[in-house]
Amino acid sequence: MSGLLADRIRDVPDYPKPGVVFKDITPLLADPVAFGALTDALAELCARYGATKVVGLEARGFILAAPVAVRAGLGFVPVRKAGKLPGATLGQAYELEYGTAEIEIHAEDLTPEDRIMVIDDVLATGGTAEASLALIRRAGAEVAGLAVLMELGFLEGRKRLEPALSGAPLEALLTV
Ligand code: PRP
Ligand code: MG
Repeated sequence: MSGLLADRIRDVPDYPKPGVVFKDITPLLADPVAFGALTDALAELCARYGATKVVGLEARGFILAAPVAVRAGLGFVPVRKAGKLPGATLGQAYELEYGTAEIEIHAEDLTPEDRIMVIDDVLATGGTAEASLALIRRAGAEVAGLAVLMELGFLEGRKRLEPALSGAPLEALLTV
């Protein structure tokens, strides 16, 4: 299964800037067999860890998390970049290479009974995932786990996330 997925991720050198190799998942998404296998694998993790809802991280995380939620029979809750959600939100700032960013969630979509599986495409430095885990806990829910298609091991995001995960599993289907 990992070969099926890895074969459909395209390396794009020097994008978005010189020296960076961008991991393009669009060939995988365009292949119904690979996209279906990815959706099944992530849905199985939701079941394994007893998730009650799926949180997807804007934007690329949405593409994976929404079909996983449907496949797993769970609700989907978006974590959006600041300023996009109309209701009462909780926000969490995080560091980027240059400056800061902020993500938000509709706090009322999570309850204290919820166990959340967070889904994103890539774990790089871990900043985005770290902020999302903080948001989920501040909204009063429990973290069932964090699942990504791909972990960029050399950036050591897993190590950074240890405190934020607080024992919850981090599952990467591929590590590069
Ligand atoms: C990318 C990627 C992850 C995040 C990983 O999102 O989709 O969400 O970076 O990086 P980190 O572990 O260093 O936080 P990005 O915000 O660049 O763009 P997107 O809106 O296309 O998902
Ligand atoms: Mg993203």
